[in-house]
Amino acid sequence: MGAAEPLIEVKDLKVHFHTEDGVARAVDGVDFAIAPERTLGVVGESGCGKSVTARAVMGLIDAPGRIVQGEILLRRQSQVVDISKLDPRGREIRGIRGNEIAMIFQEPMTSLNPVFKIGDQIVEAILLHDRIGRREARERAVDLLAAVGIPLPRQRFEQFPHQLSGGMRQRAMIAMAMSCNPRLLIADEPTTALDVTIQAQVMDLMNALRRDFNTAIMFITHDLGVIAGMADDVVVMYLGRIVESAPVREIFHHPKHPYTRGLMGSIPSLADWGARRLTAIEGVVPSPFAERQGCGFAPRCPHAMEICRTRDPGLEDVAPGHAAACFLHRAAP
Ligand SMILES: Nc1ncnc2c1ncn2[C@@H]1O[C@H](COP(=O)(O)OP(=O)(O)O)[C@@H](O)[C@H]1O
Ligand code: SF4
Ligand SMILES: [Mg+2]
Repeated sequence: MGAAEPLIEVKDLKVHFHTEDGVARAVDGVDFAIAPERTLGVVGESGCGKSVTARAVMGLIDAPGRIVQGEILLRRQSQVVDISKLDPRGREIRGIRGNEIAMIFQEPMTSLNPVFKIGDQIVEAILLHDRIGRREARERAVDLLAAVGIPLPRQRFEQFPHQLSGGMRQRAMIAMAMSCNPRLLIADEPTTALDVTIQAQVMDLMNALRRDFNTAIMFITHDLGVIAGMADDVVVMYLGRIVESAPVREIFHHPKHPYTRGLMGSIPSLADWGARRLTAIEGVVPSPFAERQGCGFAPRCPHAMEICRTRDPGLEDVAPGHAAACFLHRAAP
């Protein structure tokens, strides 16, 4: 990691859902940091707590969910705000969401309103946080549509979301997110629903944006292959925890945790990692309602030892800047 002070720092975050069936420990003690202009890849199978973590950073946890522990520190020039302590409906978090942190989703219609023209929605987003005239905001919206690679942006400005293809809608959503020039963009599986060609185009776009806008990105995916071309640093999530974290090259060259290796299919060489995709790991992610006993991955782990079923390995350094939660990588006790 670079020497820069982190823009966002998440410390021992726990988000639990209190339901009739019990307590789901969706996020159960997560630590990570993102420095300005860096991209953090967050990877893990469905149900591991990636989206809940992202929503917590956006201050979007609603009942029955609750942040029960931890801090989410957003660093500004002169002060640090703990997002986890803000009222989710209050003015301060709405200001942060509009100006400093933006989020894009797998499904663009989560962000776009079907009954308003694309251009007008972006104009409204701009006017929410910038004191400029409507005409200037219109020009900026057209520029943004062009910046995200939408051809004929003036014509597209006048269209409704349903008149755009899936890939174009995704670009429009990204334009809207970038309209506030956020310091952090959270992308929650933004390419998962797209076909491979469009997916590659949207990835190229995101890479271009982070160059042009100097935005830090938290990029969430279940597909380790997608991370390779995007992220500077990677955290691997399993059952509400981070089980491995390292710079991207380190993760691909020296994956330590059996879960990370499982996500890769095998320990890959540099030559073939680009072609690899998520391969099936035996079994399924356990229910977050169950009490945790020992290592959460033990029921699925081909290397599980006796100690793994009773003791929690915890995340510890295995090399400088590289941590893994696994007894295989500990000196003998
Ligand atoms: N509204 C909710 N009510 C109850 N449990 C929830 C709710 N939202 C998420 N969860 C729990 O949190 C876990 C993690 O969800 P999520 O963060 O969406 O996983 P991911 O994004 O990694 O697929 C889920 O398995 C689910 O049990
Ligand atoms: S601690 Fe044990 S069960 Fe958990 S991943 Fe490592 S070897 Fe497997
Ligand atoms: Mg998700």
